Amino acid sequence: MSQTQSANDAVDTLSNTERTYNFSAGPAVLPEEVLRQAQRDLWDIDGTGIGVLEHSHRDATIDRVFEEAEKGCRELAGIGDDHAVLFLSGGACQQFAMLAMNFLTPGRTGDYLVTGNWARTARSYADSYGSTHAAYDGTDCVFDHVPAPEEISYSDDPVYVHYCSNNTIYGTSYAEPPRTEAPLIADMSSEMFSRPWDYSAHAMTYACAQKNLGPAGGSCVIISRELLERTNQGLPKIFRYEDHVAKGSRLNTPPVFTVYMMGLAFRWISEQGGVDQMASRNREKAGLIYDAIDGSGGFWIPHAREDSRSMMNINFRTTDPELDKRFIQEAHQHGMSALKGHRSVGGMRASVYNAFPRQGCVQLAEMMREFARTNG
Ligand SMILES: Cc1ncc(COP(=O)(O)O)c(C=O)c1O
Repeated sequence: MSQTQSANDAVDTLSNTERTYNFSAGPAVLPEEVLRQAQRDLWDIDGTGIGVLEHSHRDATIDRVFEEAEKGCRELAGIGDDHAVLFLSGGACQQFAMLAMNFLTPGRTGDYLVTGNWARTARSYADSYGSTHAAYDGTDCVFDHVPAPEEISYSDDPVYVHYCSNNTIYGTSYAEPPRTEAPLIADMSSEMFSRPWDYSAHAMTYACAQKNLGPAGGSCVIISRELLERTNQGLPKIFRYEDHVAKGSRLNTPPVFTVYMMGLAFRWISEQGGVDQMASRNREKAGLIYDAIDGSGGFWIPHAREDSRSMMNINFRTTDPELDKRFIQEAHQHGMSALKGHRSVGGMRASVYNAFPRQGCVQLAEMMREFARTNG
């Protein structure tokens, strides 16, 4: 039997409960149903006798895939025709640059709420194209919360306000979008469709796929037609949102597989009961881990302030980095992987996206309690 054949058999027999609990911040866990559908469609999609990776991006099967992905996205986001939906190659960092190239008009300023590394990077990319202003900067408090309205100070008449709704590295998120009259742009990479959000009130929302939506290599972008009218002229076509909209996200060869997977993920979310249901599950799942932190009598130290806690990324540590290391090793031995915190925060980070199984949160919380009892 070839190596590939034996790998196939392993995939066929390993059920979700036998897999490792993958707490990775991204690329991250995907729904079992989506992965199993993809396994089938890799060989033959829609009875065409051709796998999804092998179809031309301009044939009828891939038309169907793109239409379904867009329809699913529109339904979950609750947006109408005044917003366009795009599936673009490249991740969120590409959007950091593209949005500034398109909308940071000469002589105007783009405001940024700097709530973590990614929000800061978004601003730094825009600095290459025009003037930016940090309307908030949480560096001094190591990004342990997102700003209250009184902590934000916008520039006069910003061309847009950019924020990151969920800060993957620091485990903080907004309870509601920041208030502003300016066009609002959200990086929702690590939480898109994990809870209800007012997408229609945003001029633009985007997310790289590899956390909550699918594999790496592409992004989902929702953009208002009003904002599109303000596009800077003179950009190469490939960097202009308008041109991508005109060509239905197929200006050039797109990351078809990533879009296909996002389409399946959108369908899966709908079948589970939509974003409301996702939110209630995610709240309960994250709550299991926060309860273990809060009930530890100070053994586990959370990074995020209580009013800013993320349901997707949960950071915690002890007072001793060596103990943290041991916890991560022991968790790994118990079938829980990728719990090491980002290097800029240390400690542990549990990323529990939509598809992350509840039982993994139960198991982690149990181990946290036991570890605190024996090492506290
Ligand atoms: C909130 C956020 N924004 C942006 C990025 C960067 O995404 P990409 O690596 O796809 O460019 C990440 C990735 O971890 C992220 O979590």
